[in-house]
Amino acid sequence: MSEQRWLPPIYWDGDAVAIVDQRVLPHKEKTLRCTSPRQVVTAIKNMAIRGAPAVGIAGAMALSLGASSMKAADTQTFKRKFVRLCRQVRTARPTGNNLGWAVEKVYSVVVENPGADVPELIELIRRRVDEILAEDVAANVAIGNHGKEVIPCGARVLTYCNAGALATGDYGTAVGVIRAAFAADPSVQVYACETRPFLQGARLTAYELAQAGIPVTVITDNSVGSLMKQGAIDVVVVGADRIAANGDTANKIGTYTVAVLARTHDIPFYVAAPRSTIDPTLPDGDGIPIEQRDPKEVTHFHGRPVTPADVPALNPAFDVTPHRYITGIITEVGILKKPFGKAVRKAMEL
Ligand code: MRU
Repeated sequence: MSEQRWLPPIYWDGDAVAIVDQRVLPHKEKTLRCTSPRQVVTAIKNMAIRGAPAVGIAGAMALSLGASSMKAADTQTFKRKFVRLCRQVRTARPTGNNLGWAVEKVYSVVVENPGADVPELIELIRRRVDEILAEDVAANVAIGNHGKEVIPCGARVLTYCNAGALATGDYGTAVGVIRAAFAADPSVQVYACETRPFLQGARLTAYELAQAGIPVTVITDNSVGSLMKQGAIDVVVVGADRIAANGDTANKIGTYTVAVLARTHDIPFYVAAPRSTIDPTLPDGDGIPIEQRDPKEVTHFHGRPVTPADVPALNPAFDVTPHRYITGIITEVGILKKPFGKAVRKAMEL
């Protein structure tokens, strides 16, 4: 981590939350300065910041911003208003587990400190938020260290969407595995799927890997099968938005297709995610809420229509990969293997 050369996606800028605007990358490096929780929630909804762990961190920072500017004469009023704010923040995006997890973690400060007055609660909330950020970065570095063991020497790694520094507190999950593997073996190279319609792979993963000096080639999403058939892919590593108790994994729409293709071609398929992405309350992936985004993201490109007017489009942002297609789940406490139910339970107890 010492020779860091990439942008952290979100950080404190004095009393404001600074967010690198991911909508304009890679051509423009622009930072949004949010001074209210509403501005942070808007940045989450409009994808200025995205990626499940980064969204969780942004939500936590929004709560800290809101707490410190809250007009409350007494603790009871503060708590009542804070609960309302927590509700608003946690619904900003539905699929990723990390947002609800982070809101819960910040809210628990209030529950754990019944005797604290308002200034003390504000201070404790800020401290909890900073811990969430620091722990996410540490988890990603640990994920990288565990995950590099499954990347063969000279591997051609396929990744999907962006599970990099930009999608987390820093360093990245799937991209963290790639960073660690590349540090140990500079002959590792990457295929980044462009990831229609938002192009997280083409714009963000390619940008991050190029910045880190890791050889990366962008491919269209629909060339995965052909490349696998040609023997050009050795291993797949992707991130996750929510992992159910049995290992079923929600990630960017199209991940399921990649997983099925990987199975067909006998290619290992790994998910890399911190435990904050695991939702042990869901027995399987059927209960994972799938965000439906504006069809305009599909029908328009750079603001210009690419489909006939009046033809509808579907835009589910995520899909669920059944656990049977997953070789292993790389977490900060090690690589979870089948049967995932037992492995997930054990990991959550640590
Ligand atoms: O819609 P996005 O860009 O927030 O979706 C992001 C993904 O699907 C990532 O792969 C996932 O959040 C993991 S990020 C470490």
